[in-house]
Amino acid sequence: MFIQAIRRYCANHGIAVDVRSSGWLIAMRRDGTHRFAFGYDIGLNSAIAHRLANDKSATAEALALADVPCVPHHLFLNPSMGVHVAGAHWREAMLALLAQHPQGVVVKPNEGTSGRAVFKATNRDELDRAVTEVFSSSLGLVIAPYVEIEDEVRVILLDCRPMIVYRKERPSVVGDGEHTLRELATRAGHDSQLRELTAHEVNAIVPTGEQRILNWRHNLDAGARPVLLEDGEVSAACANLAIDAANAIGITFASIDVVRVEGEWRVLEINSGVMMEALAKLHPELVQATYDAALDRVFEN
Ligand SMILES: Nc1ncnc2c1ncn2[C@@H]1O[C@H](COP(=O)(O)OP(=O)(O)O)[C@@H](O)[C@H]1O
Ligand SMILES: [Mg+2]
Repeated sequence: MFIQAIRRYCANHGIAVDVRSSGWLIAMRRDGTHRFAFGYDIGLNSAIAHRLANDKSATAEALALADVPCVPHHLFLNPSMGVHVAGAHWREAMLALLAQHPQGVVVKPNEGTSGRAVFKATNRDELDRAVTEVFSSSLGLVIAPYVEIEDEVRVILLDCRPMIVYRKERPSVVGDGEHTLRELATRAGHDSQLRELTAHEVNAIVPTGEQRILNWRHNLDAGARPVLLEDGEVSAACANLAIDAANAIGITFASIDVVRVEGEWRVLEINSGVMMEALAKLHPELVQATYDAALDRVFEN
């Protein structure tokens, strides 16, 4: 979708395009102007804004310094890099965080995306397992207090202008007092969500009218669905928070995820690559218009 959107823009603006490295690198050329897209990054963000956004702990620290409400993320470096890098007391510090948050913690790669290797831990065993798993493929991990997310909203911003605002609706089923969670989920096409649930959970009959959310994460790649928010109080509150977050790290084009916890909105993460594959399936024109506006900025001078 991303490549297609760039190709379409370039075709309409007399820009030559070369797609290399299986689509990871896109070279765009018009007269003497050369521009690149790399991954989902179209090159509008400064190097430092991109680095801060890609790093969950740096984002949380920068937002906290600017008094922008956010979910705190504590950084731990991989002990395989040596004690002078990771420190000697990382495990004690992790256990202290777990002890401070009886509702649990979330362990994830510091530079992760798409919900990969994101784990919830409520005891030492779960924490150890999550930490081993994340450190097996990442140089840094972050630990955040687990928060009960009532709603997660994504704001796509260009120059502090909200281009798209949508909520992420997690896959769920509603009980009928007759069927098990497994049966309801299978019927709704959500069988892949059942893997992480216990046998007890999937084999229980769901009472009539009760909603069961099948995945605690809001990742679109993991089955959540984007639902556009209409203009109104909620969308304005999310957009304003996202603008404050963008200003705090100086980012131009970004997708910013905000979450409602106990009625208050806070920033969860900032992505400097704007990926809209799932949204494009439902609203292709909106996605094209957003990339068009961003590419206008890329080629404006
Ligand atoms: N601290 C947390 N408390 C509760 N849920 C969380 C927390 N951190 C992440 N999540 C859930 O996990 C999902 C993925 O986490 P996120 O930080 O966005 O990482 P990624 O970059 O992999 O998308 C979020 O959409 C959210 O639903
Ligand atoms: Mg995310």
